[in-house]
Amino acid sequence: MRIELKNVSFAYGAYGKRRRKKEASSSVPAVLREIGLTIGKGEMLAVAGKSGSGKSTFTQLLKGFLSPTEGELLLDGVNPHTAKRPELFDRVGYIFQYPEHQLFAATVFEDIAFGLQHAGLTPEAKEAQVRAAMTAVGLDDDAFASRSPFELSGGEKRRAAIAGVIVLEPDVLILDEPTAGLDLPSRQALFELLHRLNRENGMTILWVSHQLDEILEHASRLIALKDGRFVADGHPARLLSDPQLLAAFGWEEPPALAIRRMLGDGPVLPESVEETAQRIARRYAERSNPVLLS
Ligand SMILES: Nc1ncnc2c1ncn2[C@@H]1O[C@H](COP(=O)(O)OP(=O)(O)O)[C@@H](O)[C@H]1O
Ligand SMILES: [Mg+2]
Repeated sequence: MRIELKNVSFAYGAYGKRRRKKEASSSVPAVLREIGLTIGKGEMLAVAGKSGSGKSTFTQLLKGFLSPTEGELLLDGVNPHTAKRPELFDRVGYIFQYPEHQLFAATVFEDIAFGLQHAGLTPEAKEAQVRAAMTAVGLDDDAFASRSPFELSGGEKRRAAIAGVIVLEPDVLILDEPTAGLDLPSRQALFELLHRLNRENGMTILWVSHQLDEILEHASRLIALKDGRFVADGHPARLLSDPQLLAAFGWEEPPALAIRRMLGDGPVLPESVEETAQRIARRYAERSNPVLLS
């Protein structure tokens, strides 16, 4: 699914004032201002910006929880608000920050199956879909299906919540700060899952993050929000090696890029720590060989 924002502005408290747009936008400070952006199918896109910069507001607009005060949002060329096609937003899966707070059912199975209750599936088809979603998030164990979601670990709870969204097979998955409060193994498992959904299902993955290392490693595009506008949009390795951009956001250069810069290599494709280590080893070998020969 292609998402387009055309000149989108948003101000809280401006509802019901579309007919008096000018008045509304001048009296309420806009959180998002004149945003023009296209998100293509299958992107791995990170959204960054300071706290309070409007990241959550932006993602909620994409899911249709909020509608633009000005401008328009198009999903595959259709404005779901004006075309009265809110069901188009069903193609967008949304994972709130701390999604584990949304778990509510008596068992993990029932929690994940909740979104399918009106899908008109036979019990067998429903069970198959829930099990497939559980397998996808790595909760593939008969014991998990009947356990209370409240007894799971933090990482497992988050995976159960994600399963409840991907069971609906969305085209786009939006996650608001999905790694907040997760330990390293849980973060790694989460990104393995997101990459798999992206690779195998062509799912667009858009997530909000404060972790520059994480963005560098996992995103193929970074958009950075400041004062209601996306002031940077491009490849993370390129953007995050720009001293001016780093200064504008008060960000520290990610260690992987700093090491690469010290090694004298320009910004290239994002590299894992392993790749960087290999590069250092190669450089070391190049330099030490003449010494060994002499
Ligand atoms: N429901 C709301 N009503 C009024 N103002 C809000 C609401 N939610 C967020 N805001 C304000 O909008 C701005 C952007 O908030 P938010 O989108 O949550 O930022 P971020 O996710 O980047 O931290 C902040 O100034 C915040 O106080
Ligand atoms: Mg937020």
